[in-house]
Amino acid sequence: MKVGIIGAGNVGTGIGRHLAAKGHEITVSFSKTPEALDKAAATIGAGAKPGSVEQAVAHGDVVLLATPWGVTLETVRGLATKLAGKILWDTTNPLKADMSGLQIGTDTSGGEEVAKAAPGALVVKAIAPFAEVLHSASTLIAGMKPSVFVCGDDAGARTTVLSLVNDLDAGGVDAGPLSLARYTEPAGMLMVQLAYMNGFGARIASVLIQDKPL
Ligand SMILES: NC(=O)c1ccc[n+]([C@@H]2O[C@H](COP(=O)([O-])OP(=O)(O)OC[C@H]3O[C@@H](n4cnc5c(N)ncnc54)[C@H](OP(=O)(O)O)[C@@H]3O)[C@@H](O)[C@H]2O)c1
Repeated sequence: MKVGIIGAGNVGTGIGRHLAAKGHEITVSFSKTPEALDKAAATIGAGAKPGSVEQAVAHGDVVLLATPWGVTLETVRGLATKLAGKILWDTTNPLKADMSGLQIGTDTSGGEEVAKAAPGALVVKAIAPFAEVLHSASTLIAGMKPSVFVCGDDAGARTTVLSLVNDLDAGGVDAGPLSLARYTEPAGMLMVQLAYMNGFGARIASVLIQDKPL
């Protein structure tokens, strides 16, 4: 599959390298310096190409959004026309800049606000495991796959993102409509709090268990 990445940072490169290793064709975009973008493409490897944000969007059947929350809505609004009809995998979390909490939540979500910013896109919210985990030799923690909750209003788009999540060696959980991001984003915030404020470190994840197979 062709995947365009907006945001060449820890998450963009971390997801990119897993997908590239599984044979997906990657164009990665945005860094304030061309050198950093070239380095991001090299980190992803397997022929990943650096490009402009517009080139990444044009390339992708799926466009991965991996930007800091503070620039996310403005970025998406500027690309809304070009994103029409594309699957937009939103992996952002609407964190306050100092990571002390979420900027929005429970009566809306970052995912829903992204969908309003790009009304023609098929937005799927799926917050990836911590970048430290994505950049490790294995995504497994204590032998288990981190769960990734996948929410979106288009069932086909959700299925596509679930298969990409599974290519990260994470456990995709079909969580249903995009409005469920109101709860998955705070769950992501809990992980941030535990990892960085409570001293657990970033090699943690939540795992959904249930009697019947997921
Ligand atoms: N890190 C994690 O473990 C983790 C886990 C789950 C979810 N998340 C979420 O994933 C998102 C990305 O996190 P990250 O850790 O990858 O952040 P990061 O390492 O800071 O990377 C962010 C990337 O976005 C780029 N960027 C900045 N302004 C932009 C703009 N206007 N348009 C397009 N791209 C822009 C940055 O470029 P420059 O470097 O040139 O500024 C950088 O390449 C955040 O919303 C975060 O909450 C992070």
